[in-house]
Amino acid sequence: MKTLALHDGTAFPAFGLGTWLSEPDAVRKAVRVAIEAGYRHIDAAYIYFNEEEVGRGIAEAIAAGDVAREDLWVTTKLWNDAHAPDDVQPALERSLGLLGLDYVDLYLVHWPVAHQPGVMRPVKREEYATLQERPLAATWEAMAALPDTGLARQVGVSNFSASQIGTIVDAVGVTPAVNQVELHPYLQQDALLAAMKERGIVATAYAPLGSSGRPAGMKRKDETSLLGDPVVGAIAQARECSPAAVLIAWALARGTAVIPKSTNPDRIAANLAATEVVLQADDMHALAELDAGARYVDGTFWCVGQSPYTLEGLWG
Ligand code: A2P
Repeated sequence: MKTLALHDGTAFPAFGLGTWLSEPDAVRKAVRVAIEAGYRHIDAAYIYFNEEEVGRGIAEAIAAGDVAREDLWVTTKLWNDAHAPDDVQPALERSLGLLGLDYVDLYLVHWPVAHQPGVMRPVKREEYATLQERPLAATWEAMAALPDTGLARQVGVSNFSASQIGTIVDAVGVTPAVNQVELHPYLQQDALLAAMKERGIVATAYAPLGSSGRPAGMKRKDETSLLGDPVVGAIAQARECSPAAVLIAWALARGTAVIPKSTNPDRIAANLAATEVVLQADDMHALAELDAGARYVDGTFWCVGQSPYTLEGLWG
């Protein structure tokens, strides 16, 4: 399994299983099947509301002798309602309780967006908290204290722009190990990746296959299917693999980690096999041409109604 070196030299498995939108019972089996197949990195989050079942899958795999805890990388994420510094460690402890783990390998600030405590999905102005009320730097300071507790080996962020990363690093003096962001040929984010590289921050690519399983309410009417892209399809044909395999190989070739989501055993196995696909320089050039700055997870859900957040503020 390919690994990427985090800024302290820790080996981070570059390929993992995404669990957003995985139904609770399906995800237990998916995690179990994935680990048995050879996955060593599971990506979770409190807001996916399936940490308990992810944890059951992990426990079953460990009990079956498929993996030892220390050989498995588990990431989970702080939800937006727990950005107050005093809420950070309790939120991690709650996730650990659900996962049935003593520690996670990586704990991420899920979004640079804050809600009032207990609000999962704000719909009214008063359910949000502004970044003036809940500065990202204060949340990050509390995150940075977690490795000393032993509850999280590494800490990082998700959906952060280069300027938000600059703000928290300047304020706290601790660099996130990882920034997990949407990355695929339609959204290549070269400038963000370059800024992260300068600071030694590793990128994890979410929605690497174009997140086609998102609920209809989160999709634009004119959404283009990444898996159906003709350039991706032609490369897949030439390399005798699937379009999904091309996208996974592309993410790894760019030096990012990648966490395709699946609950289907055949696709779970196929996605792991895709880590062996080698793309040629011509393939990479053709895929580079597809960049359209197009997000599937575009953040508009944080900006509706009376929200104090804007897309410009979010993505920089
Ligand atoms: P399923 O869970 O039924 O396999 P992303 O990782 O970009 O969010 O994409 C996840 C979506 O892509 C899910 O709907 C998942 O469905 C589907 N998917 C996962 N692996 C593959 C694959 N190898 N080929 C086609 N679709 C896939």
